[in-house]
Amino acid sequence: MFSRITGTGSYLPEKILTNQDLEKLVETSDEWIRSRTGITQRHIASENQSASDLALNASQKAMEAAGVTSKDIDLIIVATTTPDMVFPSTACILQDKLGVENCPAFDVQAVCSGFVYALATADMFVSSGKCRNALVVGSEIYSKILDWNDRTTCVLFGDGAGAVVLSQSEEPGILSSHLHASGSYRDVLSVPGNISGGAIQGNPYINMDGGTVFKFAVKVLEDVVHEAVEKNNMQTSDIDWLIPHQANIRIIRSTAQKLGIPLDKVVVTVDKHGNTSAASIPLALDLAVRDRRIHKDQLVMLEGVGGGFTWGAVLLRW
Ligand code: ACO
Repeated sequence: MFSRITGTGSYLPEKILTNQDLEKLVETSDEWIRSRTGITQRHIASENQSASDLALNASQKAMEAAGVTSKDIDLIIVATTTPDMVFPSTACILQDKLGVENCPAFDVQAVCSGFVYALATADMFVSSGKCRNALVVGSEIYSKILDWNDRTTCVLFGDGAGAVVLSQSEEPGILSSHLHASGSYRDVLSVPGNISGGAIQGNPYINMDGGTVFKFAVKVLEDVVHEAVEKNNMQTSDIDWLIPHQANIRIIRSTAQKLGIPLDKVVVTVDKHGNTSAASIPLALDLAVRDRRIHKDQLVMLEGVGGGFTWGAVLLRW
């Protein structure tokens, strides 16, 4: 028994915030943001939208593409760092909004690696025969946890959601997944605040040492991609499409260069989406599936790194 992605979907909020808009909010420039990150614009959720609303839109499209209804879904995993509330999980709220009855539903918190973690987890359920059709979602509203006066972080992120349906299959889809974490780096990238005694304790905004994140990301992404191809007795030249977490075009380019993968085999959305954390990989995947770049039987590598630090890769045959 194997698991295969049978449908993808994504959703971006209507409002677009350009670099020029940001020039009016903080002391920055379009030139600085583009040259350091590759980002030109990002989408921002409205006040009344929550992560489960974005997830709902993306999930409906993925389910339609897979040809399944709410009756067919028997597992829901949502990767998010910006849940609707402390509890219940965003996955339970999404389950209710979709009208899916009585299946396991839970959130995964692995920051920007969240979708890779969620997909790897769903693969265990589906390929072991415990579930037939899992809905795996990355949904984020980072605009809620940005300090809009801090130019070092507010220019980097955006909001959005991406989803896939992972179904049982006799042919291999997911070939292997590789997950890692090192909590000793927890202070390098964090939102340290928490709720206690009816109030926010500590800083509720993103706190980041950008230079350390950059160096760590390039190193571990190269390592984990090699780990995945070696596990499958393949080489990086066998990869048809690299779908990296979309944090920064310079991280994406450096990783691709170290792996010897030409940029025309790399799906890039960071220019238009910014960094949407757990949503970035399924958003990029959906784009490349819908514009027909990705074809049946091609080899696709998903890889990501995020706060924790967490990092990982999923290698799959489309
Ligand atoms: N506009 C203008 N100037 C800025 C801005 C801004 N938005 N932000 C910082 N600066 C200034 C700094 O204050 C500094 O000024 P100084 O020299 O007078 O002190 C100068 O620009 C250079 O700052 P650096 O931090 O050294 O800039 P750097 O070239 O390292 O780029 C960046 C910063 C883009 C954050 C880079 O470190 C990076 O890409 N890191 C990776 C971080 C990342 O992608 N995080 C996403 C979350 S983690 C993840 O998804 C994996």
